[in-house]
Amino acid sequence: MKFSQSTCYSVASIFACTCVQAASGLTGLSTPKIDTHSHVYPDWYRQAVIDAGWVPGPDGNAAPPFWNVSYHLDFMAANNIEKSYVSCSSPGTNLYPNDTATNIHITREFNNYTSDLKQKYPNKFGFFASLPLPDINAALLEIDRALDELDADGFVFLSNHWGLYHGDPKLAPVYKKLNDRKAVIFIHPTNPCPKDAPANITGTPRLNYVAPLMWAYQAPVLEFFFDAARTVSDLILTGTVQKYANVRWIIPHCGGVLPAVFERFLRTSSLLGAKVGTDRPAVPYTLANATALLQKQFWFDLAGFSMSSQIWSMSRLFGPNKFLYGSDFAFTAPVGAIALTGDMNTTLPQIYNQTEIGWIFKENAVGLLGK
Ligand SMILES: *[C@@H]1O[C@H](CO)[C@@H](O)[C@H](O)[C@H]1NC(C)=O
Ligand SMILES: *[C@@H]1O[C@H](CO)[C@@H](O)[C@H](O)[C@H]1NC(C)=O
Ligand SMILES: *[C@@H]1O[C@H](CO)[C@@H](O)[C@H](O)[C@H]1NC(C)=O
Ligand SMILES: *[C@@H]1O[C@H](CO)[C@@H](O)[C@H](O)[C@H]1NC(C)=O
Ligand SMILES: *[C@@H]1O[C@H](CO)[C@@H](O)[C@H](O)[C@H]1NC(C)=O
Ligand SMILES: *[C@@H]1O[C@H](CO)[C@@H](O)[C@H](O)[C@H]1NC(C)=O
Ligand SMILES: *[C@@H]1O[C@H](CO)[C@@H](O)[C@H](O)[C@H]1NC(C)=O
Repeated sequence: MKFSQSTCYSVASIFACTCVQAASGLTGLSTPKIDTHSHVYPDWYRQAVIDAGWVPGPDGNAAPPFWNVSYHLDFMAANNIEKSYVSCSSPGTNLYPNDTATNIHITREFNNYTSDLKQKYPNKFGFFASLPLPDINAALLEIDRALDELDADGFVFLSNHWGLYHGDPKLAPVYKKLNDRKAVIFIHPTNPCPKDAPANITGTPRLNYVAPLMWAYQAPVLEFFFDAARTVSDLILTGTVQKYANVRWIIPHCGGVLPAVFERFLRTSSLLGAKVGTDRPAVPYTLANATALLQKQFWFDLAGFSMSSQIWSMSRLFGPNKFLYGSDFAFTAPVGAIALTGDMNTTLPQIYNQTEIGWIFKENAVGLLGK
């Protein structure tokens, strides 16, 4: 059987593409790579997501992704990925808006799992730990456990945790601790969550309450990109990034829609100021001083379809030391991920020289996360 590359981008076709990869001896770009955007999906977690009502798949997807360790290692070998920093993707480990105890349990179990993986394959896997947000006290405990006992390389924050967006002043104790620990936070997109979304509806039925077109589109089609840009805007406009200057951030998908709206939200917010009655300050920025801030504390991964527009806009604002390779495996199947790496191989040389491309595929990640 033959599958086109485009079929293989989607979660729905993961099963189909699995056999292609095994059968075709697919090989990716020989440039050595470190993957900072990739996901594990162990069987017990797949079941937990289903139990929380995410059917047929998470986030409006047609099926859950397929994953096991050897599948991941085979993909890495085929695409010359030396090391993968894995994390929990959307819908994350906090699967119940009304059940903190279960969220804490699943979060700890997931972090234990990725920690064990790192321990077993120290040269192949690092991991970003999840936190049981929005519970602040539980998150503080898990930060210490993740760093001191589990040897986490950083943390993954979904773009919001049940409506807790990243500029929220409630997160101050969490940021203070992460700042003290000089942590890396990888932002991962999820579904948007308005303040008044119901707390008693989880899983797929919940999608109808969180964004107008969620009934029509899988979340990765539209909402993921908007929600990631939304939370990054919140981080910047509130002065949160600047205040916690030791925290380093990884933004997914080359900023999502960020490059298109960056100047617009900076300038408009500076003109309009803080909204009356809000808990959010509005720190004024120019494009120049906001860019300087991001150049200091942000990195951008190239997962997803970043090459036709995002990279061109982002590369005008940020240097080649700011981009990281990302595959989005296992949500993107091997054939798709390798095809996207081929797009990078075509596009990046139009912007960067080979030394800089080497930084993007590997050295920037080494600098940020260590070996
Ligand atoms: C990468 O690009 C070079 C040309 O710049 C080409 O020769 C090579 O075949 C490409 N590799 C892949 C895997 O696409
Ligand atoms: C992992 O997945 C691969 C690809 O589908 C499959 O061939 C293999 O049997 C699986 N391994 C285990 C241990 O489940
Ligand atoms: C995680 O690991 C810790 C330490 O080994 C253990 O006490 C705990 O039971 C494990 N699982 C969960 C869900 O916390
Ligand atoms: C959370 O809401 C669900 C759906 O209404 C309900 O089944 C469950 O019992 C609730 N859990 C808690 C801890 O309140
Ligand atoms: C959720 O709560 C709302 C208001 O408290 C109630 O009207 C609704 O029936 C509940 N839905 C479910 C699925 O439990
Ligand atoms: C950015 O520059 C503007 C205009 O000079 C200034 O008002 C603002 O305080 C600066 N913002 C930051 C965060 O430095
Ligand atoms: C490639 O880029 C690096 C870093 O920007 C620069 O130092 C080097 O001179 C460039 N090499 C070539 C051959 O242009």
